[in-house]
Amino acid sequence: MESNRRLWLKKIGIGAAGIGLANFSSFASPPVSENLNTRFDKEANLIFLRSNENPYGPSPLARKAFVDHANISNRYNWDVATQLIADLAKRNRVNDENILLGAGSTEILDLVAKLVSLDKGNYVIADPSYDYWTAILDNLGVTKNKVPLKADKKINLQAMLEAVNQDTKLVYICNPNNPTGTVCEREALVEFITKISQNTIVLIDEAYLDFTNQQSLSAIVKEHINVIIAKTFSKMYGLAGARIGYAIANKTIIENLENLQSNTNNSVSVVSKLAAIASLKDEKFVSNCYALNENVRQYTISELKKLNCECISSHANFIYFSIVKYNKDYFKQLDDNAIEGGRIYEEEGKWTRITVGTMNEMKKFIKAIQ
Ligand SMILES: Cc1ncc(COP(=O)(O)O)c(C=O)c1O
Repeated sequence: MESNRRLWLKKIGIGAAGIGLANFSSFASPPVSENLNTRFDKEANLIFLRSNENPYGPSPLARKAFVDHANISNRYNWDVATQLIADLAKRNRVNDENILLGAGSTEILDLVAKLVSLDKGNYVIADPSYDYWTAILDNLGVTKNKVPLKADKKINLQAMLEAVNQDTKLVYICNPNNPTGTVCEREALVEFITKISQNTIVLIDEAYLDFTNQQSLSAIVKEHINVIIAKTFSKMYGLAGARIGYAIANKTIIENLENLQSNTNNSVSVVSKLAAIASLKDEKFVSNCYALNENVRQYTISELKKLNCECISSHANFIYFSIVKYNKDYFKQLDDNAIEGGRIYEEEGKWTRITVGTMNEMKKFIKAIQ
């Protein structure tokens, strides 16, 4: 596969050394676009703690790949997908036929929604959970069946199991769950999957699994033909704006999803794919981000507790906490200090979510709400 890539690079006229890296050091600071009238330009001092982005990324190797390969953006270069798929298959202990690339994991979730909507029926989802993508299911006539979390804010797998019936086409488990940051234990999840009929698709969203020490459930797709794992480069790998994610599933499901994607594996740009290939090699960046996230998250939780905010123990790059006993107008404090935070999730308990930014950002956040 490596030789394929070299051949392809030769074909489009770029040697192994790539384009000069004269500007690479200019990427050392956080990404700021130049006069493009984006949110970065309009609000230079705004602190983004809303979308669980990686405040340190993309990784140095990914930035280098963007620079090296910018000049080939005039070509379609479909074959780069083959290289990335091979790398992802190896990493996830599956075969190439078990991987489908999408423009962010959002495209994967969309494709799954379209696939299950062909037969109507219902879908089961925890509440609250990541549900921005479920409008497609609702609009295509699949009935939503929301299952409340347990009192400790963990997903109630037993209740979700009980909510599944013969018309259930899809069960969605976000692990760790967004917005709560709680995890389902791996063994419990495997047992859950085993108990679900193979006629129901089980979609496991592992967008934040890289922030835990849990292993992906990827290899399970070999035995369980109804399981789809959604993964993304947007969070730990810091490539949210590059839009790259993927599905891992049994060959037949991948083929069914491919039938719903016009340009299979190629809604993602070639530079994003090359950045993803490079990111996978940047283990140092990932371990640094992991450690930084743990440290800053711990700091933020301890400070939030001092402000009477109950915090749920988080396994991700965000924190779910209650502002019911907080004695100021939380959202006004954020607004006044140019901080973009999350929204209210459970109105009664006034639970909200904040992304873990850099230590500096979180110190400013704490100061803003003190
Ligand atoms: C749980 C979860 N899944 C999927 C996504 C979609 O991410 P992307 O489309 O950038 O891969 C997000 C984004 O915040 C998310 O929180």
